Amino acid sequence: MIGRLNHVAIATNDIKKATAIYRDVLGGKVSGEVPQPDHGVTTVFVDLGNTKIELLEPLGENSPIANFLKKNPNGGMHHVCYEVQDIHAAVAKMKAEGATITGTGEPRIGAHGKPVVFLHPKDFVGTLVELEQV
Ligand code: CO
Repeated sequence: MIGRLNHVAIATNDIKKATAIYRDVLGGKVSGEVPQPDHGVTTVFVDLGNTKIELLEPLGENSPIANFLKKNPNGGMHHVCYEVQDIHAAVAKMKAEGATITGTGEPRIGAHGKPVVFLHPKDFVGTLVELEQV
């Protein structure tokens, strides 16, 4: 079911510093900062050719990454995103497998304008998993 690794998301309290590390220390190809108020984050992408790193900084009051950063004040890997061909088929399979989909359990439009769901880390080796229809 899962296809390519679309991105690995890294949460940070300081996206300018994180961007500088990826651009200047690691020599990565970084995008500009994109505030995404609907998603409670500001994003910067690092284009790796075969996949991306997504840097996330909390934006606004109820950011979905606020709790993670409370537990990980230095930042850290927040989720991995795998591509799927059909998000509704993927959701049906996850429900049949007994996996927990976060939120309403229904796909919503993610930070890249495509339908996504998030799968609870307890079912996936301690890692929050995003499935994105491509
Ligand atoms: Co993501």
